Amino acid sequence: MRTPIIAGNWKMNKIVGEALELCRQLDEAVANSDVEVVVCPPFTALASLNALGLKKVKLGAQNMYFEEQGAFTGEISASMLVDVGAEYVILGHSERREIFKEEDELINKKVLKALEANLKPVLCVGETLEQRKTGDTEKVVVEQTTKALVDVKSDELANVVIAYEPIWAIGTGETSDGQDANEVISSIRRTLAKLYNQELADQVRIQYGGSVKPDNIAEFMNQSDIDGALVGGASLNVKDFVGIIEY
Ligand code: 13P
Repeated sequence: MRTPIIAGNWKMNKIVGEALELCRQLDEAVANSDVEVVVCPPFTALASLNALGLKKVKLGAQNMYFEEQGAFTGEISASMLVDVGAEYVILGHSERREIFKEEDELINKKVLKALEANLKPVLCVGETLEQRKTGDTEKVVVEQTTKALVDVKSDELANVVIAYEPIWAIGTGETSDGQDANEVISSIRRTLAKLYNQELADQVRIQYGGSVKPDNIAEFMNQSDIDGALVGGASLNVKDFVGIIEY
């Protein structure tokens, strides 16, 4: 019922030439895949990638600001992203939360603006190692999800993708086990059912992220509530990313 979505978050990697080369190869390799494939390069590569006219691979951004335009030095608006072909935007990534001190209220404003501009947010939630150790995982992800979705309307919810990324599993080679990730993701879906209703909650795609590789993707995709992956390191290399998409 839910189309799986595999997205690559390149983070601060790749200049334009490298981005073009990777996406050309990727688009060809996954042309017949049943899953939705999204690449989120740095802002600087979006316009050139859009001009490639990719057939299968969709584009996303890694962040945006919630204001329409104006004196916000260094920021990028939702309509600027739409203008260069982005369909998705990652919001609330743990690196934004931790390094750039983004809080739930700001992330909520970004989610609302993205939806208004017809961009689909990939809302990231996840606990720190500390929070996991104290048994607070579910509480943290439920709270992050709830706060990010304030004022999101029922008819917009299905355009939101949620990525559960335990922070201790990002870039560390350590992964949550599939069943464990599925339980956290089920609790996110139960939260959506409470905030909206079960039917809407069942339409939302929820990804797992954190050290996803070709050799562990199946463990996650075999779970009932996991609808895809948000991939960092392994999305920087065509062979690995294709290996994940073809799980
Ligand atoms: P890694 O796949 O490199 O662990 O990164 C995950 C991530 O942060 C994707 O947003």
